[in-house]
Amino acid sequence: MVDLKAQYEKIGSEIDSAIKSVLLSTAFIKGPDVKLFEEELQEYMGVRHVISCANGTDALRIAMMVLGLKPGDEVITTDFTFVATAEAAALLGLKIVFVDPDPETFNISADSIRSAITGRTRLIVPVHLFGQCADMETIMDLAGKHNLYVIEDAAQATGAEYFFKDGSSKKAGTISHIGTTSFFPSKNLGCCGDGGALYTNDDEYAKKLRSIANHGMKVRYSYSEIGVNSRLDTIQAAILRVKLNYLTRYNEARQKAADHYDKSFSECASIITPARVSYSSHIFHQYTIRIKGGRRDELKAFLESKRIPAMIYYPGPLHLQEAYRPLGYKENDFPVTSSLCREVLSLPMHPEMDQEQLDYIALNILNFFD
Ligand SMILES: Cc1ncc(COP(=O)(O)O)c(C=O)c1O
Repeated sequence: MVDLKAQYEKIGSEIDSAIKSVLLSTAFIKGPDVKLFEEELQEYMGVRHVISCANGTDALRIAMMVLGLKPGDEVITTDFTFVATAEAAALLGLKIVFVDPDPETFNISADSIRSAITGRTRLIVPVHLFGQCADMETIMDLAGKHNLYVIEDAAQATGAEYFFKDGSSKKAGTISHIGTTSFFPSKNLGCCGDGGALYTNDDEYAKKLRSIANHGMKVRYSYSEIGVNSRLDTIQAAILRVKLNYLTRYNEARQKAADHYDKSFSECASIITPARVSYSSHIFHQYTIRIKGGRRDELKAFLESKRIPAMIYYPGPLHLQEAYRPLGYKENDFPVTSSLCREVLSLPMHPEMDQEQLDYIALNILNFFD
């Protein structure tokens, strides 16, 4: 699905020397590269604060801890996403309220959020799924009206741009109270291990986020609140500083590959290509098609026989996972998620894809339907 080896072959010498300089400095924890990376990412994102941490799941949990939510407070999030969002809320004793996504964009639907808000709702967590922003302007309006917090999960959308009705724009993750991201290796901005970060424009949140990510410590060995140990390793920060320089090029290469896929499948009635909305750019963390006619699994097996990887993100709705059964949801509570789980297929998508690979994949898919 990604080709991190091909990427390493292109930028390996820069990565090697970044790693070597950390090894020689021995500043493995909170070394200078961590602060430099945060500053450089801050500038790229156009946000006041970037607080790095150990991974995207921690970022979500730390963000929720900072908002002072209490056990039982309701958190609205999408049923169609990676488990991390729900996991973070569950670990803090918050009550997860799943809602259906929009069938076209795969992103949380503002209408389903609206109907899920109760007197106990405190937080909305939209996920910018597959690289395109959720309908943030509507979501922020709703949150404002009901006095709710919003945490954006931008793990799959580093670099995506949200366009407001007034013509201004912001990067995914910097629109709400706190944004979170992941630097998991296959992400658009990925390191060589685990890593994550939080974004905020609020100085007070920033101070708290930084403290909670480091044992609740503002002054050394003095603990003002209960925190966690969640730091970005200096080696990963040094690698990310190199890769941040390539992010715009990488995202553009993904968009070019997506354009090629779109064009190839435009005449195929069995394939629904990813919707592109006017209020967001799409940086194609995943290129996810929907297969009509119930032949998704058959196509996946066919592609495997042609040595073409394809993945199902996500094969099962979160509300039906064993771990989340105690929430009491039933089989058909979220019909959009259920049908997406039966129809979606993500195709290989990464910046190193060449024309020959794209043609081979598209041709085989079209042959399958012919
Ligand atoms: C949408 C989303 N949120 C959160 C995460 C969690 O990030 P991490 O793996 O760095 O903990 C991921 C995946 O990695 C993700 O795709």
